[in-house]
Amino acid sequence: MVTVRVPAKVNVQLGVGGVRPDGYHDLANVFFAVALGDEVTATPGDGVTLTCTGPDADAVPLDDTNLAARAARLLAAHHGLPAPGVYLHIAKAIPVAGGMAGGSADGAAALLACDALWGLDTPLDTLLELAAELGSDVPFALLGGVALGRGRGEILEALPVSGTFHWVFAVADGGLSTPAVFRECDRLREESGTGATIEDVPTPDADPELLAALADGDPVALAAALSNDLQAAAVSLRPSLADTLRAGTEAGALAALVSGSGPTCAFLAKDADSAAHIAAALRASGTCRTAHATHGPVPGAQVVSAPRP
Ligand code: C5P
Repeated sequence: MVTVRVPAKVNVQLGVGGVRPDGYHDLANVFFAVALGDEVTATPGDGVTLTCTGPDADAVPLDDTNLAARAARLLAAHHGLPAPGVYLHIAKAIPVAGGMAGGSADGAAALLACDALWGLDTPLDTLLELAAELGSDVPFALLGGVALGRGRGEILEALPVSGTFHWVFAVADGGLSTPAVFRECDRLREESGTGATIEDVPTPDADPELLAALADGDPVALAAALSNDLQAAAVSLRPSLADTLRAGTEAGALAALVSGSGPTCAFLAKDADSAAHIAAALRASGTCRTAHATHGPVPGAQVVSAPRP
């Protein structure tokens, strides 16, 4: 049996370029891994089977569309294994369809868990390539820490960071579809007259002030530099997110933003005590289903228990 722990992410910068001919958007995507995470356990089994527990387990598909199942099959195919055999169990804490890359995290965790279970010893570079085939956010879940993602988010460069930052995540009722939020971003750009294609929108780049705030471990400077080009689209599709963002700010957050494509909202706090206070205030505010105080950065997917000898 192999258990892998894997972090959720928040995007401290999500710069979205124009829509490309392949339908994706070029990004300047600064990923930040937080301690809120899932655990995926792999046990020998027949075929690829999946179970899931946790508060949102009912919303998790257990068929071959689940990124954990796809990861197991992709790794087996890469190594020419005739019939992959694994039973995967996901202990889910990351909000489902919440803009925190929870499905991607499970895909990354399953790659690592199956690699250990099947004794394949796949090099990290190869795992990262397989991860990129599974989805734009999957490679970062393997890497963790803080990283700049270019291209559609899969071309990663680790970034220097000092200290620990304290975060609160407000979980909404129900998810948002990532493609729908990107489409809404395009629609809002068309509507405002700027256009939405790569000819219309300059290729985004990482914000130097944001990178300096991360390197300095300065939460006040990071709060001033946080940005998410998908935020207007997420709020347009779910206007009640404006109330959630306001409630966290009123409770003392240094900054509030939508996490990735949402609808989870992220709040940067000045320290752990402040984060606990903001989480309690958000839970009491009636503007979200629940709220979690956590911290980061933390490492990417890691084996926490190896097969018994
Ligand atoms: O890569 P992944 O399958 O996670 O992406 C999900 C969807 O999000 C894509 O089908 C696309 O609609 C949108 N997306 C995008 N540009 C990106 C990443 C994702 O438009 N860079």
